[in-house]
Amino acid sequence: MFVKTYMKQQWSSSINFILAAAGSAIGLGNIWKFPKYAFEGGGGAYILVYLIIVAILGTAVLLAEFALGRATGENMLMAFPRGRGWIGYLGVATAFLVLCYYFQAGGRVLRYLWGYLSDAGGMFLGSEQVYLKMTGFQGFPFEGAVLFPLIYILLNAWIVQGGVQRGIERLSRIAMPVMIVLLVVLMVRALSMDGASRGVSFLLHIDFSTLGFDGLISALGQAFFSLSIGMSVMVTYGSMLGRKEPLFKNAVWVCALDTLTALMAGFILIPAVFAVGSSPSGGDSFAFVEITAVFVGMRGGAFFALLFYALLFFAAIVSSVSILAGVLCCIEDRWGISRGRATVWVCALALALGVVYTAASWGGWLEIITDRWLMPIVALLTCLYVGWEFDQKRLRLELSGSAKGFKLWGFLIRFVAPLAIVAILILSLWQ
Ligand code: PHE
Repeated sequence: MFVKTYMKQQWSSSINFILAAAGSAIGLGNIWKFPKYAFEGGGGAYILVYLIIVAILGTAVLLAEFALGRATGENMLMAFPRGRGWIGYLGVATAFLVLCYYFQAGGRVLRYLWGYLSDAGGMFLGSEQVYLKMTGFQGFPFEGAVLFPLIYILLNAWIVQGGVQRGIERLSRIAMPVMIVLLVVLMVRALSMDGASRGVSFLLHIDFSTLGFDGLISALGQAFFSLSIGMSVMVTYGSMLGRKEPLFKNAVWVCALDTLTALMAGFILIPAVFAVGSSPSGGDSFAFVEITAVFVGMRGGAFFALLFYALLFFAAIVSSVSILAGVLCCIEDRWGISRGRATVWVCALALALGVVYTAASWGGWLEIITDRWLMPIVALLTCLYVGWEFDQKRLRLELSGSAKGFKLWGFLIRFVAPLAIVAILILSLWQ
């Protein structure tokens, strides 16, 4: 007998759907990856290319995922027919792997949030020490790999148990406005620092010579990651959307909110690091270690550090909850396992793999496998399937709107998006 699964549930309204899908999209990728890539890509040119990619490709592929979900009414595992089911499995496997490192990252954010709440002075002096201890450079990282990720996972599991409306919707309704307020406050603070204007000019200065191929590939990969495309999540979210809700408009809203927050994060971090004469490059440690210089050099730094980690925490949790819910929904529906049991298994496995990942300190291999390879491949296969094999009449019904618009979208997901993704994959081989 089937338990009451996520699939039997629906979003209560378009707004709640947009908030949840945008919440999934807005994550650590927006706050700590986008500014770093924008810096490395030379500022304005990277941002311009990123905006064009999101407006044309991001929206089209996101729409394909929403449409596939709603047209079939099925989660990612079951949205594909016989013979193509492996695409769904690949999507869910990708989501699970992302979950493993997202839980670890979420635990790290929680540790810093707690650190700034309880002893900001200590964090100012010892943020690097804390980071090294958490990431396995000084013995087994119990705190960083087990304790804080476990607390973070329990929070995720608790929210997901509430289901779609009482769990995910409620979280996004709280987290999204809070994030916007935090972003605005932090942006005002960063932009009012002495020397911040140099960072602003850097972000507005368009010079394609600094972008290069690397910048282009990174913008495409980042756009997909940031929109949560190429995994099970958006197909599954689309499947829970009411028949009458407008898909195109919703996809545009999600892309717009996601991009707006990434830009705001860029206009916080880059001006702030320019003001203190530091640089936002470097690995994942940037958001924990190098950034401390900004807070130390800022009046009211301890308070703003707290706001920054609160922002990261909200961004991380709405995203990880969406990945967890996406995976659980597939497992529950496919095998009829109860939500509670599925949650325990998925979380325990994700924690175990995450512990190995952090403790072994092998560099970001999970991120490389998922962000550079699996997500683009799943997005490519989804575009090909929706564009070439899926019943076009059914799709047309999903995407009410002009016939011209439908044709243009078909062209984008049949030709432009697949070619662009293949180009990223090939070019990544040279990196
Ligand atoms: N989009 C999220 C971010 O920017 C990450 C994510 C990927 C979330 C895939 C859900 C699914 O951090």
